[in-house]
Amino acid sequence: MTDAVHPRILKALRAEVSPFLAMDVMAAARDRLEAGGRVMRMEIGEPGFPPPRLAVEAAQRMLAEGGTIGYTDALGLPQLRRRIARHYKDAYGLTVAPSRVAVTIGSSGGFILLFQALFDPGDRVAITMPAYPPYRNTLKALGITPVEIPTRESTRWALTAEQVEEEHAREPLKGVLVMSPGNPTGTVIDAATFRPLAETCRRLGIHLISDEIYHGLTYDGVTAQTALAFSDEAMVVNSFSKYYGMTGWRIGWLILPEDLVRPIERLAQNFFISAPMLSQVAALAAFDATDELEERRAAYARNRARLIDALPAMGLDHFAPPDGAFYLYCDVGRLTNDSLAFARAMLAETGVAATPGVDFDPQQGGRYLRFSFAGAEADVEDAITTLGAWLKQR
Ligand SMILES: Cc1ncc(COP(=O)(O)O)c(C=O)c1O
Repeated sequence: MTDAVHPRILKALRAEVSPFLAMDVMAAARDRLEAGGRVMRMEIGEPGFPPPRLAVEAAQRMLAEGGTIGYTDALGLPQLRRRIARHYKDAYGLTVAPSRVAVTIGSSGGFILLFQALFDPGDRVAITMPAYPPYRNTLKALGITPVEIPTRESTRWALTAEQVEEEHAREPLKGVLVMSPGNPTGTVIDAATFRPLAETCRRLGIHLISDEIYHGLTYDGVTAQTALAFSDEAMVVNSFSKYYGMTGWRIGWLILPEDLVRPIERLAQNFFISAPMLSQVAALAAFDATDELEERRAAYARNRARLIDALPAMGLDHFAPPDGAFYLYCDVGRLTNDSLAFARAMLAETGVAATPGVDFDPQQGGRYLRFSFAGAEADVEDAITTLGAWLKQR
């Protein structure tokens, strides 16, 4: 789809927001599927499974009972907020008051609330490069300046306290946004890196935002640390989209310092009124779906192991094995420095869809591809065979 707007339509500066290219590749893959072609989907950023059975049943029950599906409190159903708070005790051994939980419209809705509550236009917020592209695009659309700090495969893509301190000394930062496990890299920020990062932010008066949307999806015995373990002042963003496999239900959550709760509530009341009630009821039930969700994690783990094994055999041996999420970020600089054109050609000639790195990293991304292993095991297997044969001919 073209991004040009008809010149007669007057538009605000924010209408110039960049496209999220990964979604454009998804659209090309969908076109191919609709035309009857085969697509091995390694570009998708969402679980290749239906939602957990218990979540679907809870929603069905609610529909069958025929009660009102209306607005909820702006910060979410009290029982869901309580259950999310309990999750911090169960998963991390941390006490979080339910009053600090805000239920949002996906984590995407959470980011919009948080950015507006914390930052004014012109404020500088550090993000990593590579990073999830909507961070940069959303901050920019709100008039906030994303400061993209390059991270490296050699340090497992982590942003360090030193980098933050250095950038802050150059020109003050108002916020730092990190993710662990990361998208597109799948790497986890270890405690030895996270603790000093959180302490530095606190000392310098910089807001620390931690995107923990891939928590629960880690492999090989790695666990992801929550920023709350290192700072009471950190703001956590999470969601039912990834581990819980509920992307389309659009439910996320924030854990906030007490004094940010009311400002977020006021913004949420005005922007969204509430997150969808039916989805909140389903999300609550998803907390009980651990057996099913762990089976899915095991399937991702098998896909991950297959890729880690097979890619080097086809000459793609330049990547940090992902600790979590369902992505592997591979340096394909040996083959191209135009990953967008390369991904398009790969899709057209083999039916294997992957996401070009340029979306995540405008500087170095031309030599990277992100392979998602969230899809079916058969797709991953076929993609390995097809890609291996294609790369041999190049
Ligand atoms: C790192 C990261 N954060 C946030 C999101 C947004 O997810 P949602 O709005 O579905 O919670 C995504 C989606 O892919 C993501 O990868």
